Amino acid sequence: MSRRPVIAGNWKMYKTRADTRQFFETFKPLVAASRHCDITIAPPFTALSTAVDAAAGTVITIAAQNAHWEPEGAFTGEVSMPMLVETGCRGVIIGHSERRQYFGETDESVNRKLKAALQAGLTPIVCVGELAAERDANLTQAVLRRQFEGGFAALTDVEFSRILLAYEPVWAIGTGRTATPEIATSAHGFLRELARKRFSPECASALRILYGGSVKPDNIKGLMAQEEIDGALVGGASLDAKSFAAIVNF
Ligand code: PGA
Repeated sequence: MSRRPVIAGNWKMYKTRADTRQFFETFKPLVAASRHCDITIAPPFTALSTAVDAAAGTVITIAAQNAHWEPEGAFTGEVSMPMLVETGCRGVIIGHSERRQYFGETDESVNRKLKAALQAGLTPIVCVGELAAERDANLTQAVLRRQFEGGFAALTDVEFSRILLAYEPVWAIGTGRTATPEIATSAHGFLRELARKRFSPECASALRILYGGSVKPDNIKGLMAQEEIDGALVGGASLDAKSFAAIVNF
């Protein structure tokens, strides 16, 4: 089954609105002819509307990096899924390891956010991945299973078919230590197997699984050559327009 590749950029807490305008000025011409994959960029909240305006009329879609599960309420400092939709966002990253590590995100909150994103019509990019200590202790599959089952609890096939899954081994994020294509392939295969057990075979084989963790222009080709790798979630290398364009045009 051939799955359409997705290249997504996660800007984390980088870039002002002015930086965002500048990025798109350089980036747009470099990907103007790129029709082989979906391109999405996740700026910080404050730059979302700037990015939406800058991407208007292109195939680039804009996603947020997080949101609350309630549509509104007394939750100081939070932003809701319908607010993202109104801003022109089409997707939202959920359960990134930095949110799990530093902001108390759990499989249960991932599940609530995922349902809220689907309800609002956003494409969720759900992140899973093991810590270095978990890999060393041979717990990778156990961790992925727990995150998968908890995050996707009580989801229907139709809902599951709208999700993008990102495998991001925590030891590879921002470390320059990319998973080898073999390590990524084996984790992706395991995740697809979990999907096959829990959802329909059609859903499982259509699921797009992105790899994330130190993806760079010089390793994207080797990763994308793997049958099981359907795209990339790129942090550091998505901040520079030329380097992110080189990744998009792998
Ligand atoms: P990195 O980040 O590409 O800088 O390793 C990836 C991510 O956190 O999504």
